[in-house]
Parts: sequence; structure tokens; C-alpha cells
Amino acid sequence: MRLLPTLLCAAALTLSAPAETFSVGKGAFLLNGEPFIVKAAEVHYPRIPEPYWEHRIRMCKALGMNTLCLYVFWNFHEREPGVFDFSGNADVAKFCRLAQKHGLYVIVRPGPYVCAEWEMGGLPWWLLQKEDIRLRTNDPHYLACVGRFLKRLGQELAPLQLARGGNIIMVQVENEYGAYATDKTHVANIRDLVRAAGFTDVPLFQCDWSSTFQRNGLDDLLWTINFGTGADIEAQFRPLKAARPDSPLMCSEFWSGWFDHWGRRHETRDADAMVRGIRDMLDRGISFSLYMTHGGTTFGWWGGANNPAYSAMCSSYDYDAPISEAGHVTPKFHKLRALLQQHATAPLPEPPAPPPVITVPPFALDRAVSLFDTLPAPKPTETIRPMEAFNQGWGTILYATQLPRAAKKGETLAIDEVHDWAQVFADGKLLARLDRRKKEFAFALPADLPAGTKLDILVEAMGRVNFGSSIHDRKGITKQVRLGDDVLTSWQVFNLPPEHAFAAAKAAKPGAHPSGPAYWVGAFDLAAAGDTFLDLRDWGKGMVWVNGHPLGRFWEIGPQQTLYLPGCWLREGRNEVIVLDLKGPRSPTLQGLGQPILDQLRGNLSDTHRKPGQALDLSGERPIAEADLRAGGGWQTLTFPTPASGRYLCLEIRATQAPGPAAIAELDLLDPDGKPLPREDWRALYADSEETRSANATADKVYDLQESTFWQTTPEAKPPHALVIDLGAERRATGLCLLPRAEKGAPGQPKTLRVYLKDSPFRL
Ligand code: GLA
Ligand code: CA
Repeated sequence: MRLLPTLLCAAALTLSAPAETFSVGKGAFLLNGEPFIVKAAEVHYPRIPEPYWEHRIRMCKALGMNTLCLYVFWNFHEREPGVFDFSGNADVAKFCRLAQKHGLYVIVRPGPYVCAEWEMGGLPWWLLQKEDIRLRTNDPHYLACVGRFLKRLGQELAPLQLARGGNIIMVQVENEYGAYATDKTHVANIRDLVRAAGFTDVPLFQCDWSSTFQRNGLDDLLWTINFGTGADIEAQFRPLKAARPDSPLMCSEFWSGWFDHWGRRHETRDADAMVRGIRDMLDRGISFSLYMTHGGTTFGWWGGANNPAYSAMCSSYDYDAPISEAGHVTPKFHKLRALLQQHATAPLPEPPAPPPVITVPPFALDRAVSLFDTLPAPKPTETIRPMEAFNQGWGTILYATQLPRAAKKGETLAIDEVHDWAQVFADGKLLARLDRRKKEFAFALPADLPAGTKLDILVEAMGRVNFGSSIHDRKGITKQVRLGDDVLTSWQVFNLPPEHAFAAAKAAKPGAHPSGPAYWVGAFDLAAAGDTFLDLRDWGKGMVWVNGHPLGRFWEIGPQQTLYLPGCWLREGRNEVIVLDLKGPRSPTLQGLGQPILDQLRGNLSDTHRKPGQALDLSGERPIAEADLRAGGGWQTLTFPTPASGRYLCLEIRATQAPGPAAIAELDLLDPDGKPLPREDWRALYADSEETRSANATADKVYDLQESTFWQTTPEAKPPHALVIDLGAERRATGLCLLPRAEKGAPGQPKTLRVYLKDSPFRL
């Protein structure tokens, strides 16, 4: 009792301490009235195990950052409509308070859409249960769900605004909306919902690309620009400076590296180029957030995907960031820290030691059960419906029926569409595997099948698209299954969700060795816990859980071959492992390595679009347009002399502005109204040359909606360079828009161009 007056006194002192202020001044941010450069580290709390949060925050501090920048992942918090979770790894307020404890400010980016290579860009899958929902629009249902979430988030984070004694200095409205649509009313609606949630005491801002920020820029919001390592900083800010001469400048996402897709080369970005970019910004007084400073891991089923050219994300989100996936310093870290030390007023703290790393000797997963022997109760459905219709969000789904008639060898079985990876079985025998990444939606039956044959189609959802209009990405089989001209009906559906409780309830039998899809269970003993990297090189494709924690997806094709297993999820003594392998392991053993393997592609390594022996023959073809492009960056428009129609587009780069390879970052065809035609159905059929040894510069990068990715030819290949695209259907076009590579001094700018468009395929 005698302590009470002292405590009251301390509380009174805290309350009377003047709150800090942060505002947008003329040409500069102002912290407590003084010019302030934001040096922010982007980190994602669900991508770091909660016990490690403080370690990673201290790493950012030691790097020389003064702020943390974080997305809020709506679908991580509201897994069922109206049921919220802000505990444990979802306790975002705790994350902010830990940052404050270490003297860091926080920028919050509550979406509702965040992109971030995260399942559905952070939107909850159950939104798709409304068949006609229009995400990221003024659809009243969508806005109502957004409002409900933001309001709940406000209860967690609004009290942490700077003026209220917390450390939140800015809040973002939507995310790169200009890359999605032009609709200022929508952005204004989101802004109002953010304010209504209580974020009234901090500047609100929008982030977009240099080429798109004016589409949706609201007068009362701060505008910031996103771009990556290598970018021409002056050029990136030029349009913003012209539009808003008095605005402080900020790169709200400066990409330190890039993310990895299954089946594609591991991405890296040069450390010196990254540091040069940050030096350049600091020299000009430009604020920045380094996306990612620490990428971490996309645990469980939270990885997203890109489309067109559907391509799912790896589990590692290492991002080639300065702080590695497991929280270690890297050469990039040291180089950046040296620069940021020069811009700090006091010596930077030393980085904390990383959590200890251990190796785990090989151990067997000695119990197993075939997935087909442990199915849940089926749900009957006359026609095919996607996973969402059965109230399943993620994981695997099985559709079973019997053939209503005999089928002939060579007849086509078509699945419209597989989202995202399917195995088709006839009476338990594997007939085919179909991969959405390759637009494999049909196959010829390898044998005659009698009427009554049991047909099982096992579909794995690989992560919903997180960017572009394809975010309306329903899983399982989206429409129908056809045998020849007959639509198959009378299905039984089995839901196989990825939550641990479901996997753990499987009765795996000792000594069983099923072939095909199966759950495998085992354990290993530890004298002391530590971080390790589970080696999945002997396994096919699936998901791993350790001590109840879903570690993430694995896939033998790589480039990621190990899964990060944080020591804080391990314990002295016995540790339980479950693996769902949809293909089946070569050997059902695992081991923990001391190093990750993130760059080992296997299988068919060539993702290029030119088969051996192919050469495009344009003799006798007539171009619909031929033009010289100007030198210099930015989008260029080429109007065709007369509108043209066709399904197959060929672009021939006859000469480049400077000697060397040719490159294109983005390509749009314009419809009769001058608007870009949709590109979701585009498919690269041919490119004479693609740089895949040192980069992921394949032809499909010209329509992947990302301005920072590009098609580039190899240095040895000689012009002319040709690219052939199947537009998916006949289209009428009046011109094209083309974006060269945007980085400073980047090669490949096209000079002379010929365009062909016709109904029939080109001769290859
Ligand atoms: C954009 C998005 C981010 C992320 C990066 C790429 O800038 O805003 O969420 O997707 O691209 O890593
Ligand atoms: Ca691109």
C-alpha cells in the first residue's frame, strides 16, 4: 500500500510529459518542429516468430534505422468473418510497443490490400464466398467488411499514435492503387474508413509508382513513390516534384532485393547498388523505407502468387535483404550500416547476436498414412464448385466422381480451371499432373477407361494471387470438368485444410510406406533447441508442421530446398514433425542443416520460351506497324497506322538504342478506345533469346504487371529480336504502349520496332 503514492506520482509524470509531434512541413517532415529524415525498415510481424520480434527490431536499430514500417495483414487477423485475433504472432500493438521500447517510430500500412507477396494481398479469402464481390472497389459489401476490420484495428493501434504517447508517425491509405484502377472515390472511401478507425492524429499518405501516382492522388494526402535498387532517383521523383513542389520526398518502398517464385531462379540485387541508391536519397534529403530490411518467412499457407503467368511464392521471404531470413547480418547489412553510421548523430549499437543455429542429424518419419485412407466425410455436389463454396480457405481439396460412360484413349479430359496444382487418378492410378503455372488445364487420356471408373482429382491451392485484377482467385476447380464434350457431374468433395489440428488427427501407422499423397509423421530429440533449416531435398511437394507450427510449403523444383525452422518453436527433448507430401518422398527422412538452401532449381530448369530447333520465320509476313522509338526512359505509345485484329502478336526489335541486349519491362496493347487490353490470358509462345542465367528475364515479364521486371535477351544474341504472344483470343488493337527498363543506365532500350498481328500462329 505504501507504494501506491509513488506509482501514482510516476503515472502523473508520464501523463504530463509533452507528447512528440510529427508533421508534413514545407519540403521536409518535421519531428517536434525540426526537419526529420525517415529512415525506415520494412519488417512484417507475421513473418517473424513472435519470440524473435525484439531481436529483429534491435537488428534494425543497429543498422541505423529510426523507424519501422509495417503492413497489417487483414486475413491474418480475421480468419472468419467478424472473429478477430490480435494475440501471439498477431499482436501487432505489442510489436509497435517493442519498437518504441527501442526508440523507433512506426509507420503503419493497414491496407486493407497490401500486396506483399502475401495470400490474396492480405484480403480474407472468405470475401470470395460472395460470388459477385468486386474487391478493391466501392462494392458496399467489400467496404463494410473493410470498415469492420479497420475499426477493430483502430482499437489496437490508434492509442499508439505519436500524439497520444505512442510511436506511430504515419498511416498509409490503400496500397499502390494506381497499379490496380483509377478511382479516386474508392481511395477517398478507404481514407475515410482509416480516419473513422481513429487514425486522426497522424499524416495519412498514399504510395504508388512514379508512373501511376497521379491517377488516384487525393489532395489531402501525402504522396510517396515506390521503386527499387538501381532506380534513377532523380527521374523517379521528377513527376512528383512537378506536381507538388513543396512536398517532402519519400521513397515508401525502396526494394532491397526481390521475392522468389517456385520454379524460377533465386533473386538477388547488388549490395553496392542498393547502398548507392540510399546514399543518393540521403544526400538529397529524401526519406525512405527499405523494403525489405528483414523479409523473414512466409510461414504456413500465407504465400501469395503473381498473375498473369500464374506463379506462386516460395516460403522463404529472405528477399536478399540486409538482415537474412534467420535474422543474421549479411554483407549488405554491413555496407548499409557503414553509410547510415555517417548519417547518425551517435555511434550505432552493435547488432545483437543471432539465435544459436543447430544441425539435426537425419531422422526417419516412420509413421505414415495415405491421404486416400484418411479422408474426412464427403460433401455431395451435383456440379463442380470452388473450394470457397465448401467453406474451405486453403489447403487441398479432392473431387471424386465416376465416369458416366466409357472413355477412349486419347480423349481429352479438361479441367476448367485448376487452381493450382492437380493430380488426376483413375481407380487410384495416377493419370496426369496439371500445373496452373504452365496453363495445363487438359490432357489426353493415356488409356481406355470403362464406364464407372472412379475419377479422383486432388487439387492443391498454392496461394491466392496478390497483385492485379486476378486477386479474385478462387481455388480448387473453378468451373467444371469435361470428358470430351460431356460435363461431368455428381461429385463428392473432401476438404483437406492445412491447419495443424486437421493434419495431426491423421492416424499414421508405424512402418507404413504408402506411395502417392500421404501424411508422414516422425520425431527427433534435442539436447538444446536452436534455429535450423529442414532439408526437404528428398521430398516432393507439400507442407510441413513442427510442434504444431505450420512451417510452410515445399516443392522439389526449388529454388528453395530448405524450410527455416526457428529454434523458439523447438524444445529440449522430443519434437514432433508432420509432412503432407502430395507426390511422395524419395526417402522419408529429414535433417536440419546449419545453412539454408535457397538457390537450387531442379527438374526442368528451362523456363524459356524457345524450344530446341525453333526459329521464327517472318518471311512473307506483313507488319501492321513499323516505328522508331525515342531514346530515354518512361512509357512510349505507338499508334498503328490502321487498327488491326488478331490473336497472335509478334514484336520484332530490329535495333536497340545502344549496342547490347534488348529489353522490355512492360507491354500493353490498346483497344479501340485507347485503353489497355486485359492481359490475364496472354501467354508468351516464343522469344528468340532470354537471359535466365543471371536473372529471371523471361518473355512473360513483359505482361506480369510489374514495371520493375523485364524480358531481356542474352548479351551474345544478335538482333533482330522477336517476341511472340498468344493473346488468348482475337483482339482488335489500335496501338501499343511499351516501357523500357527503368534503372539508371540499364541496357536494352528498343529503337526500331516492327509489329505483326494475325489470326494464325506464326511459323516457328
Ligand atoms: C509493391 C508492393 C509490395 C510488394 C512489392 C514487391 O511495391 O507494394 O507490397 O509486393 O511490390 O515485393
Ligand atoms: Ca514486367
